[in-house]
Amino acid sequence: MKLKPDIGIGAANPFILASGILDANGYTIKRILENGAGAAVTKSIGSEERKGFDPPVIYSDGRSVINAIGLSNPGIENYGQEIKIATSSGKPVIGSIFGQTPEEFAMLAEKMQAYGASAVELNLSCPHVKGYGTEIGSDPELVSAIVSAVKSRINIPVYAKLSPNTSDMLGQAIAAGKADGYVLINTIKAMKIDINTGKAVLSNIYGGLSGKSIKPVGIRYVYEVKKETGKTIIGVGGINNFEDALEYIMAGASAVQIGSAISQAGIGIFANLTKELESYMEANSIDNIEELVGVAIE
Ligand SMILES: Cc1cc2nc3c(=O)[nH]c(=O)nc-3n(C[C@H](O)[C@H](O)[C@H](O)COP(=O)(O)O)c2cc1C
Repeated sequence: MKLKPDIGIGAANPFILASGILDANGYTIKRILENGAGAAVTKSIGSEERKGFDPPVIYSDGRSVINAIGLSNPGIENYGQEIKIATSSGKPVIGSIFGQTPEEFAMLAEKMQAYGASAVELNLSCPHVKGYGTEIGSDPELVSAIVSAVKSRINIPVYAKLSPNTSDMLGQAIAAGKADGYVLINTIKAMKIDINTGKAVLSNIYGGLSGKSIKPVGIRYVYEVKKETGKTIIGVGGINNFEDALEYIMAGASAVQIGSAISQAGIGIFANLTKELESYMEANSIDNIEELVGVAIE
């Protein structure tokens, strides 16, 4: 039985740790990989250390999360050690990077490759930091220039993580067409008001919504982008159990990432999902996970 996803990084199963969750530190990433994740994406790393926004930076109602962490990260020069620790697990680590120009992205990608990352994920989609993420992802010419610059400088796979916060995700995907695949979706711009104080809960006012409530949006984007481009897709958004993951795979995802669910399910979720996938494939006489990818597409 083949559980290995065709995403070019040698992951043993299709269940990947999403960017930004328990992944600023190499030892935590290593622990998650050793406990069954097929691969792990790092926190998004930029050129310089960033403190991020003042607290409160996260709101959760048990079903969904709104975060405005503000791309806090130690900076690329300080992150090599964490990748080395994480990759000592022998499992693939995907380096997530963010920047403002094609040159900056290309420099960050080169460093990630040199540190031992198996692939690079371009964060073109953070919804809450001015001058980064969605603001870049909404400019098709810039997206295209960033992907070309990164592709010309590294030889590991490049995945473009796109935003649901623009009117035209398909346009974004086409602009990022030189990438080896897409990661869909990042969080959806949202906010929460505390009715006792009459004020926004997050210091940044706006944040990004993740967790159970965004799954139908993610499914729709994976389906649409897979149907229109045929390219490799890694699905992410609201996956809490095996049924959610299977839905993404049937919509067209070759692999999936899990983020918010980990706070409730714990890091055992990756091994559990793999066991359930094995049982499902056995019960339905499926030899290769690829047979399931995109079966819902008409
Ligand atoms: C606290 C938090 C921090 C995040 N940080 C990042 C980040 O640094 N880079 C990124 O590309 N996505 C980041 N994300 C988005 C997740 O990787 C993922 O796309 C999103 O949460 C949807 O998946 P989920 O519903 O399984 O959490 C973050 C999400 C959360 C909840």
